[in-house]
Amino acid sequence: MTIKEIFDTMTYGPAPESAAEALAWLVDQGARFGHFIDGDFTAPGDGFDSKNPATGEVLATLSQASQSDVDGAVAAARKAQGKWAALGGAGRARYLYAIARLMQKHARLFAVLETLDNGKPIRESRDIDVPLAQRHFYYHAGMAQLMESELPDREALGVCGQIIPWNFPLLMLAWKVAPAIAMGNTVVLKPAEYTSLTALLFADICRQAGLPKGVVNIVTGDGAVGEMIVGADVDKIAFTGSTAVGRRIREATAGSGKALTLELGGKSPYIVFDDADIDSAIEGLVDAIWFNQGQVCCAGSRLLVQEGIAERFHRKLRTRMDKLRIGNPLDKSIDVGAIVDPVQLTTISEMVAANTAGRMHQAQVAVPERGCFYPPTLIEGLAPSDALMQEEIFGPVLVSTTFRTPSEAVELANNTRYGLAATLWTENVNLALDIAPKLVAGVVWVNATNLFDAAAGFGGTRESGFGREGGWEGLSAYTKPKGKAKTLDQVQGFSGEGAPVDAVDRTAKLYVGGKQARPDGGYSKAVHAKSGALLGHVGLGNRKDVRNAVEAAAGAKAWSKTTGHLRAQILYYIGENLSARASEFADRIDRMTGKSQGAQEVEASIQRLFTAAAWADKYDGQAHGVPIRGVALAMKEPVGVIGALCADEAPLLGLVSVMAPAIAMGNRMVLAASEAYPLAATDFYQVLDTSDLPGGVVNILTGRHAELAEPLAAHLNVDAVWSFSSSDLSSTIEAASAGNLKRTWVNNGRALDWSADHSRRFLEAATEVKNIWIPYGE
Ligand code: NAI
Repeated sequence: MTIKEIFDTMTYGPAPESAAEALAWLVDQGARFGHFIDGDFTAPGDGFDSKNPATGEVLATLSQASQSDVDGAVAAARKAQGKWAALGGAGRARYLYAIARLMQKHARLFAVLETLDNGKPIRESRDIDVPLAQRHFYYHAGMAQLMESELPDREALGVCGQIIPWNFPLLMLAWKVAPAIAMGNTVVLKPAEYTSLTALLFADICRQAGLPKGVVNIVTGDGAVGEMIVGADVDKIAFTGSTAVGRRIREATAGSGKALTLELGGKSPYIVFDDADIDSAIEGLVDAIWFNQGQVCCAGSRLLVQEGIAERFHRKLRTRMDKLRIGNPLDKSIDVGAIVDPVQLTTISEMVAANTAGRMHQAQVAVPERGCFYPPTLIEGLAPSDALMQEEIFGPVLVSTTFRTPSEAVELANNTRYGLAATLWTENVNLALDIAPKLVAGVVWVNATNLFDAAAGFGGTRESGFGREGGWEGLSAYTKPKGKAKTLDQVQGFSGEGAPVDAVDRTAKLYVGGKQARPDGGYSKAVHAKSGALLGHVGLGNRKDVRNAVEAAAGAKAWSKTTGHLRAQILYYIGENLSARASEFADRIDRMTGKSQGAQEVEASIQRLFTAAAWADKYDGQAHGVPIRGVALAMKEPVGVIGALCADEAPLLGLVSVMAPAIAMGNRMVLAASEAYPLAATDFYQVLDTSDLPGGVVNILTGRHAELAEPLAAHLNVDAVWSFSSSDLSSTIEAASAGNLKRTWVNNGRALDWSADHSRRFLEAATEVKNIWIPYGE
């Protein structure tokens, strides 16, 4: 091409980045890798090839970890953990800084190696993946430094098993490793089988940084190795990947006591209102769905455009698509690189081929014949129920539909089983701030998309998983409260034959939707005092009663929209009303438990109510200082409907301590009262009845925890389940929760000291953090 022709056409020439240094590094390592265990690489074993998806060439041979490799890595991590935690935050911070610096020093090597291994454009690995990974280590070096002063009540979990996907190999490693080791944990990490090379280079960096042996261990292999890590003697599993595997891990870890965070798939909406800056919204879409070939969990893969501009918008979009450049990922002028592996390419091709709905446009661009390439694709005019509107494609395929009104946009946006991210474009700040809170998503971008930073937590709700990575909120996933909890013994109520104490045989009903309700099964059980005297009867709730209570709680949505100020007043009122009946409650508790704990319980319960009232308008979010011209507002939102099996041993305090912070944050509750001593709860709903609490916000069931746990944990309209029951139902609950991947908090047979105030833990469990990124200032 002559210079004149270049000026006439303004086409880009190739600008390839050299792969020489990265290939030389691979040769230096013998192009065969073992695992990184206890500070050293093991001898390479049987394994598999890692290929460059753009060319099909073999880059290196990796080892498939055996059970003994995984056990060895876990043992090394276990051995190293105590000393690493004891080093203190400031001591650990120095290693994190050293790692960040070394990553910066070798930034280009990391970027080229990542592009060779994954197929993503070098512009992205160079400008996004690698700098963000470094930033994560810098940021968490700071978190380590601040741990003792800012998180004085928290300590490391222990050994963390971490399993990551192939779409952001180094970045996902950084998201997992940096917070874990900053907080004093040690890790065993498995990169995805397609993309392990930058993790192995990172292992080398750990060695260069002098990181103590065993703090970071890396084993390679496929899903079978992932399963071995899940089953190993680790204290936590952190997983990023498909929803199907996430669900299996939830089931596999149920009842094991292992902490779990899951960052799973998405089908994130990209909403364009008719007053949006259309050209910016189109450039945003290039980043939303063609960034990393659409292999992004939070990709804006579902375009929703307001009807009035839909035709013009789609026309401009098609024109823009035809200008995208697809090809050699090492070429700096390439927009769209290679799909990670032929397997993924086949999945994408088959999903698109199976679709017959809508109109398809594939970018009119030259697609390389060799290698795993798929053209940018748009499918317009789909119905919300069409498979491609619901299923994650995980490729460069955008689907779209239109809407008329903002409320229809919200309805369409939330019409998904996922809840990871959402993008909205409008020039109207009022509209943006009206819509953002209504979107079910862990992250919302306003007039921007796919922005990430270590200071802003990332993670989703619904089937996109639970837990956050990054920010202050990400740290709770790698820490636990200090101290060792006592074992919780099963608490049994008393039995007896005696006559009713007050001569009137009353059967307390269930409390559903603000009304007393007879149990569906028509069964009740007697509650006796230590002396054997009959104190009363309670209904035995069943599966149907759980469903009714959940329906009532789900229907009380308006509570979540009330102000903290209003909720505080109602909580104070409940406290006052309880106070007026304090001695009656204390007496009832003493009789049921056969101990003199009643007065203390009632007093502490009143305090919990007042504390929750105090927090109702003070458990604020944050404005994160992210390094862009904007802010990330970390807003605390209610989780939704929370089911809780209340403590047996503290019949009133156990219920109030759980209920008060949760409703203070705007949640609605289904509470299963103490099974052993249920009458305090049934008396308590009379207090609720007289305290202006809207019906359905708190629903109280009585009966056998073992019978109520499973239907509560399996119910799709329940967003979180907690259990403090002395019947250890942790395994049942966690396994049943896998259906809609709801958040769980179970006691694993350990006691919580109810005399202590755990309000902060409850407030945290009762809220979801939504990070809303908003352009701000210059
Ligand atoms: P995957 O979920 O199977 O793989 C992710 C990681 O989990 C890999 O390291 C893999 O080796 C490991 N793994 C696989 N099976 C496991 C098991 N039973 N126990 C423990 N670990 C296991 O994802 P895959 O098959 O690579 O991709 C399939 C689909 O998953 C994609 O098309 C996409 O829809 C979704 N996906 C979502 C990601 C996200 O970031 N949310 C990332 C990768 C894939």
